[in-house]
Amino acid sequence: METVVSGIRSTGNLHLGNYFGAMKNFIRMQKEFKCYFFIADYHSLTTHPHPSNLRSNVRQVVAEYLACGLDPESCTLYIQSDVPQVTELYLLLNMNAYMGELERSTTFKEKARKQPDNINAGLLTYPVLMAADILLHRASKVPVGKDQEQHLEMTRQFGNRFNRMYETEFFPEPVAFNYGDTLVKIPGLDGSGKMGKSEGEGNAVFLVDTDEVIRKKVMKAVTDVSPTVPNTEKPESIKNLFTLMEVVSDKTTIAQFDSSWNDCTIRYGDLKKQLAEDMIKFVTPIRSKILDIMADEKYLANVMSQGKEKAIASASETVKEARRLVGINYY
Ligand code: TRP
Repeated sequence: METVVSGIRSTGNLHLGNYFGAMKNFIRMQKEFKCYFFIADYHSLTTHPHPSNLRSNVRQVVAEYLACGLDPESCTLYIQSDVPQVTELYLLLNMNAYMGELERSTTFKEKARKQPDNINAGLLTYPVLMAADILLHRASKVPVGKDQEQHLEMTRQFGNRFNRMYETEFFPEPVAFNYGDTLVKIPGLDGSGKMGKSEGEGNAVFLVDTDEVIRKKVMKAVTDVSPTVPNTEKPESIKNLFTLMEVVSDKTTIAQFDSSWNDCTIRYGDLKKQLAEDMIKFVTPIRSKILDIMADEKYLANVMSQGKEKAIASASETVKEARRLVGINYY
């Protein structure tokens, strides 16, 4: 069976876009492949988070993924820093990662621009750590979006370089992998198309948002002028609201608003009110599951230590062989 690896940002609290995107992918993958999903907490240290924030972020992200349906029996869900083997593979790979190629990475240039006072070595070698994450389980598939394609290309470089140098085929070439075509793209509330955390306050509805916050965000969603000619095509911002309804509202509600669009009697205030209530209905059970899991210290600890054990079993085999290939086997 093929192996899948994916890292999850430890600050990445889930919004509805993630829920209907990456999350749906993960849930399906865990049934079809040998999956390793981990919280990339080492990576987040590049921006020096406060220790108490790091801790609560990591725990919340684990709880969110569990609440959404990642099953620790079907996949390996672990914390990156629980598996020390990754740091050793990272060190070995660093010896063949060249300054020039690291400096040319677009994410490095972007981050260096955003945090000019903190261009640390961890930031520069971020792609090497990511390669170590992936090669650690000798994965062939990585479910990431376009923004990570260059990192994945670097992973292939580093793996191939190792293979060539030590005359081996030990590391497979990982490729990006998604069930993209079957997923609905979730638009944001700002009319710009995509729900995303970085698109600005209010654009994304998070799974832990309170009812009040959801109402506020939805009521502020961007709309257009009201229709005056019957049966015309909807402008982008209105299409977006309908797309959101498609994932949280029932068919008769959508049909009602659709016909009120067509006969020009639609009132956007009513549409948004309905959308907000339906979103709340959808999010409420997930949110309470997240909060329950976060409150259950014992369960969380169990899940994390079970994941740690399974990940270490795979990682230590890889690192043992990598050491042998490099020549670290003296006695
Ligand atoms: N860099 C990825 C992101 O920003 C997170 C990540 C770290 C990752 N290590 C990984 C993703 C390994 C896939 C595989 O989203």
